[in-house]
Amino acid sequence: SAAFAGSSMAQTFPTKPVTLVVPFAAGGPTDILARTLAASMTKELGQTVVIENRAGAGGTIASAFVAKAPADGYTLLIHHNGMATAPTLYRKLPFNALTDFTYVGLVADVPMTLLGRKDLPPNNMAEFIAYAKAQGNKINLANAGLGAVSQLCGTLLQQALGVGFTAIPYSGTGPAMIALVGGQLDVLCDQTTQTLAQIKAKTVKLYGVTSAERLSYLPDTPTLREGGLKDFEIVVWHGVYGPKNIPAPVAARLNQALKAALKDPAVIAKAGDLGAVIVPEAKQTPEALQAWVKDEIAKWAPLLKAAGQYAD
Ligand code: MLT
Repeated sequence: SAAFAGSSMAQTFPTKPVTLVVPFAAGGPTDILARTLAASMTKELGQTVVIENRAGAGGTIASAFVAKAPADGYTLLIHHNGMATAPTLYRKLPFNALTDFTYVGLVADVPMTLLGRKDLPPNNMAEFIAYAKAQGNKINLANAGLGAVSQLCGTLLQQALGVGFTAIPYSGTGPAMIALVGGQLDVLCDQTTQTLAQIKAKTVKLYGVTSAERLSYLPDTPTLREGGLKDFEIVVWHGVYGPKNIPAPVAARLNQALKAALKDPAVIAKAGDLGAVIVPEAKQTPEALQAWVKDEIAKWAPLLKAAGQYAD
C-alpha cells in the first residue's frame, strides 16, 4: 500500500548523499550558513549532506534547478529573501515560489552591514551620506545579482539617498568581499555571516547596520535609520526547500534533521559567531516557511515596484 511504501521510505531515507544547493558562490554568507547546517544534518541523517554551489541570476538559476529536480529528498535548496523577491523582480520566472517546492523549514535570520573599502574617505554614516551624494556614480557598489540581498540593500540605499552608484555584479558576495578587502571595490552591503570577521580584522570600514535596532555585538554602530534613512530595514531570512511532491515521510525526516541541526550546540555556537539568530522552533516548520514566503512576496512587491526593479 501507499502508506506502507511511505513508511518504509522514511525508515531507509537517506541511503546516499543528500545535495544542498547554494544559489551563490562558495565562501559567501549563504555558503557559510549552508556548510554549518550541512555538517550537523550529516550527523543526524547518517549520510553526507554535500554542498553544491550553483550561482547565477541572483539565485533564480539554483531555485529553478531544484524545482525541477527529482522529488526524492536528495536535492535540496537553501535560499534567502530572494525566494520572495524574485517573483516581483523577474517578469519570466521558470518556477513558482509558492507552488513548486516542498517547504522544509526556516533556518535563521541575519542582519546586514554597510561597508566601505578600508581607505574609502568617509569615517562614519553622516560622512558616508555626504560622500555618496557628492560622488554618485563614481562609487562602485557590489551586488550578487537581481534577487540577491546585497542588491536589495543597494537598491533601497540608492533610493533613500537619491543617488545612482555604479553596480558591479558578482556570483556571490564571497568574491565581492575579496574585491572590497583588496580595494578594487568601494561599497558592499552584506550579511554579518561573512562581514563580522572582516569588521573585527579591520580590513573594511563599517558605516551602519540594516536592522531596525542596533546589534548587541556592534553597539557603537548606528542603524541606517539612525543615519537618516527613514524606515530602512532589511533582515535576511533563510529557508530550506526541495522540489514539490517529496513523499510526506521523507519530507518529515528532512524537517526532523533540520530541527535537530538547529538544536545542535555546534550550530548554535557558530550561529552566534556569525550574528545569525536561529528561528524559534515554531518557525522551523514547512507550514511556517510557506506562509512566510507568501507574506514576504506581498511585503516586498510594492517596495521593489516603487524602486523600478525588474528583469525580463
Ligand atoms: C546576497 O547578496 O544575496 C548573498 O550575500 C549572496 C551570497 O551568499 O553570496
